[in-house]
Amino acid sequence: MELRIRKTPPLRGEVTVPGDKSMSHRAAMLAALSDGRCRLDNYLPGEDCLGTLRVLRQLGVEIGETGPNEFVVHGCSGRFTAPTDDLDCGNSGTTMRLMSGLLAAQPFRSRLTGDASLSRRPMRRVIEPLQQMGAVLTAEGPGGCPPLVIDGNPSLQAVEYRLPVPSAQVKSAVLLAGLLARGTTTVIQPVETRDHTERMLEYFGVPVAREGGRISVGGGRLPKARDFTVPGDISSAAFWLVAAACQPGANLALPAVGLNPSRTGILAVLRRMGATIEADFPSTERGEPSGDILVTGSALTGTVIAGAEIPNVIDELPILAVAGALSAGTTVIRDASELRVKESDRLAVVAHHLLAMGADVTEHPDGMEIRGGQPLHGAKLASHGDHRIAMAFAIAGLFADGETMIEDTACVETSYPGFAAQLRRLAHGQS
Ligand code: S3P
Repeated sequence: MELRIRKTPPLRGEVTVPGDKSMSHRAAMLAALSDGRCRLDNYLPGEDCLGTLRVLRQLGVEIGETGPNEFVVHGCSGRFTAPTDDLDCGNSGTTMRLMSGLLAAQPFRSRLTGDASLSRRPMRRVIEPLQQMGAVLTAEGPGGCPPLVIDGNPSLQAVEYRLPVPSAQVKSAVLLAGLLARGTTTVIQPVETRDHTERMLEYFGVPVAREGGRISVGGGRLPKARDFTVPGDISSAAFWLVAAACQPGANLALPAVGLNPSRTGILAVLRRMGATIEADFPSTERGEPSGDILVTGSALTGTVIAGAEIPNVIDELPILAVAGALSAGTTVIRDASELRVKESDRLAVVAHHLLAMGADVTEHPDGMEIRGGQPLHGAKLASHGDHRIAMAFAIAGLFADGETMIEDTACVETSYPGFAAQLRRLAHGQS
């Protein structure tokens, strides 16, 4: 599968993005742990989150599908049944890392596998804290990579664990294991990362203590059954935000997008670059703020994205790099070496693809410098099986002379089913 893109007039109209990926995974897992029936609405029907449902079903959780984005999960009160086969996490790091936390406390062995990309991603970051809690985890791949074999321990002990990397997935794996452990588990995060796990635990009736960077949960308090409606994914909205913000004359409305402050860094960065974005007065339902976003296009200027802001925009950096190339002046991305261990080495791939389109870019070990304003031209670009690379460069193609061809775009299905159809509709001026 491939995507072919040409320059379009400014985007106008409305676009509804699918449910948030991070929240969908967590809602499914907490519902599965809960003590009853939970309806999940606007669940992301992307391959990553469907993979989490598949894994949970393999663990004996009954899950009914009542609509394309609507599932009913029958919680098993924290007791999974031993799987008879490997648990295939597909392309999804979130599935593998968060499920590791839950499986660490089960009285059986599980083996988690993934596709070629997930099989290259580091798992020591979850192995270390979960071993400290008393589970036995073995990475079968080279350098601590999947497959991951977990010999669970139903008598896990609480830990106090300081995150060595600013990762919400690692934080969540430890907190989820902590729910099923003896004592109070504390994760210390030196830099703030997305807090969906903490908010959702509280919404599902599990107390979470938060003091500065210390987050604690007590063992033995299982989630209470709750229904949850997943807000739209701001990381998916990011592609349209940049497409419209950089294009004078553009005007896009994005209804019902998640506006959790640990995820809205993209709005702050684009505003700093001169974008006009309205996203005020979010409503907070079920613990997660959401609201409508309105973006109006203008000429942007470069900015610096670094430090504590990085975890907040980690998934948006590829499309923000594209925004940098389309802006006047220089955009600098620093402190983002984590991007090298995502679905692809996103620093290398983004720098390569921007150069291929005519941008002026220097790659650094932990980021890049983009001297914006060079005219972009179409190019044939590999997705590297990375959904966010495919989508970021599809958007870049809207600004390039000639045709941009993104190869191997099946990966877009992991987080954004319907992206290509929405792109075609907006590019043809239908709102
Ligand atoms: C996620 C956390 C981030 C992010 C990923 C989803 C989550 O990963 O990049 O897409 O849902 O917790 P890290 O925890 O590796 O930073």
